[in-house]
Amino acid sequence: MLQCLILELEMVFSWLNLLAKFGFSDITGIDYSPSAIQLSGSIIEKEGLSNIKLKVEDFLNLSTKLSGFHICIDKGTFDAISLNPDNAIEKRKQYVKSLSGALNVKGFFLITSCNWTKEELLDEFSEGFELFEELPTPTFSFGGRSGNSVTALVFQKT
Ligand SMILES: C[S@@+](CC[C@H](N)C(=O)[O-])C[C@H]1O[C@@H](n2cnc3c(N)ncnc32)[C@H](O)[C@@H]1O
Repeated sequence: MLQCLILELEMVFSWLNLLAKFGFSDITGIDYSPSAIQLSGSIIEKEGLSNIKLKVEDFLNLSTKLSGFHICIDKGTFDAISLNPDNAIEKRKQYVKSLSGALNVKGFFLITSCNWTKEELLDEFSEGFELFEELPTPTFSFGGRSGNSVTALVFQKT
C-alpha cells in the first residue's frame, strides 16, 4: 500500500487526483491547527472523499505512528516554521528530523516554498536528502535579471 503524508491541506484535492492515478490509497493530512483540520474535514465530507485521514498533529513533535510514508508533500508549512520568531533555526532542524522519521528510505519529499531559493533549500535538506528533481515554477524579470518567486523541489531520502 502506497502511503502519503500531506502538510498541505489547501491543495489536497488537486493532489488527490494525481496521487490516486499513481496508486496511493493511504493518504494522511496533518496540521497543528484544529480549525484547519475541521475545515478540511468538512470539505472532504462534502466532496465524498474517503481515502484521506486528517489529524491534528504538530509536525515538530510528530507521533511515531506517523511513519513509513512513501511521499511527504509540503507547501507553506516549512515556510511558516521558518518564519517563527522563536528559535527558527532549531525548529528547522527539528523539521528535517521529523521528515526523516516520517519517510521511508528512498521516500520522496515535495516542497513548494515562497521563502527559500533552491540553493537555500538544498542546504537545509543536505543531511539525509538528495535533490531528485526541480519542478518548473513561474519566472519574472527585473532590472535585467530573471528569477523565481516560488521554488518547488523534489528530494529523495537517502
Ligand atoms: C502558510 S500555511 C500554508 C497553507 C496551505 N498549504 C497553502 O498553501 O495555502 C502554513 C500551514 O502550516 C501549518 N503549520 C505551521 N506550523 C506547523 C506545525 N509545526 N505542524 C503542523 N502544521 C503547522 C499552519 O497551521 C498553516 O495551516
